[in-house]
Amino acid sequence: MTGKARAWRASILHFLSDPGSGDDPRATEYFEDGLLVVAEGRVSAIGAAAELLATLPRGTTITDCRPGLIVPGFIDTHIHYPQTDVIASFGTQLLDWLERYTFPAERRFADPVHARAVSEFFLDELLRNGTTTALVFGTVHAQSVDAFFEAAKARGLRMIAGKVLMDRHCPDDLRDTPEEGFRESARLIERWHGHARLGYAITPRFAITSSEEQLRLAGELARAHPGVHVHTHVAENRAEVQWARDLFPWSRSYLDVYDHFGLLRERSVFAHCIHLDGEDRKRMGESGAAAAFCPTSNLFLGSGFFDIDQSDRAGIPIGLATDVGGGTSFSMLRTLADGYKVAQGLGQSLGAKRAFYLATLGGARALGLDNEIGNFRRGKEADFVVLDLASTPLLARRTAVATGIAEKLFALMTLGDDRCVRQTFIMGSPARFSAA
Ligand code: GUN
Ligand code: ZN
Repeated sequence: MTGKARAWRASILHFLSDPGSGDDPRATEYFEDGLLVVAEGRVSAIGAAAELLATLPRGTTITDCRPGLIVPGFIDTHIHYPQTDVIASFGTQLLDWLERYTFPAERRFADPVHARAVSEFFLDELLRNGTTTALVFGTVHAQSVDAFFEAAKARGLRMIAGKVLMDRHCPDDLRDTPEEGFRESARLIERWHGHARLGYAITPRFAITSSEEQLRLAGELARAHPGVHVHTHVAENRAEVQWARDLFPWSRSYLDVYDHFGLLRERSVFAHCIHLDGEDRKRMGESGAAAAFCPTSNLFLGSGFFDIDQSDRAGIPIGLATDVGGGTSFSMLRTLADGYKVAQGLGQSLGAKRAFYLATLGGARALGLDNEIGNFRRGKEADFVVLDLASTPLLARRTAVATGIAEKLFALMTLGDDRCVRQTFIMGSPARFSAA
């Protein structure tokens, strides 16, 4: 081990691969009394405390977090920072919700001061909930993305974001043009992609709000920048699917519109993926594109039930996502609780280990970032969370009688929320919060 090492002692859980619906035991690594060792912001060792303690370089600081549980930082694979102020808006499904709440909120992001203030609050909220990486929608305003990246960079975070492309079927003052959207996205890629820990995502809102010319140019940009993400929505709501069908009568399906324009590829992330057919899933699986599973949003907006089993069978990488502000919580634990219920609604089962995999390494894989984050393999960036399984009286009581780690994790995801997050670490240092 080189550099100044620090170590944290606690129970430690992470995943080496996907436990799948069969709960493959080889996928999970769990140390009841473990040690996580970090040097220069990266994982340098992980193991049983009894074995590792003796190997630590002299002078290593050891922080005792027992009886806490350390897991990799949560990865939220689809969220809208400009919708922070419209979370929990009453009474509508997707298309009306966009008109009534979302577009008015997004209009305010023409003001970079507002954009910076919301970015700071949003990042505080992510970190308070143990989320250390997210794939984030901005608004149509390029300055919304500049403000977000400036705030994320100042805290040393690994974040991916993009400016919304939207040139039709939305308010006039929230529209760009195909050329403007292309030019501004290219400028943002140049300025931010690969700088510090930041990455860019080409972000057409959804096929409905982009002309064919805009989608064509988005595809051109995606081809020119294979390392850049593509981030959009697909097949969330039945009225939306019908509208897409009407707007693109030549396409086989809604997903096929994106495919036609070259937007279905590795590093493409599609939020929702509810109303897909077998052919769509097959194409997604072949292409390497990932699905963002957004259970709180899908229940709140009455959108439907994401089919985990069919997605698995098609080989589609799945990430977990809050989709705030359609989603109702920044907490990935609360999101998992609803994920379990969505699976139940389809007669499926989301086991606790699979669930925590989806919130960590599964998200990293869905984003193509599993060489950097997602678990505690040596050399990975040390973004992690210390969880408290006794943060509420009920959770303490329930976990006290749990017989193994899977049962504890299930109680944690069913009953837990931000109160369980004792501390969040970024590259081995305590996460920085805004001064406000
Ligand atoms: N589809 C297009 N835009 C949005 C959005 O902002 N939120 C959700 N949930 N779905 C969308
Ligand atoms: Zn969304």
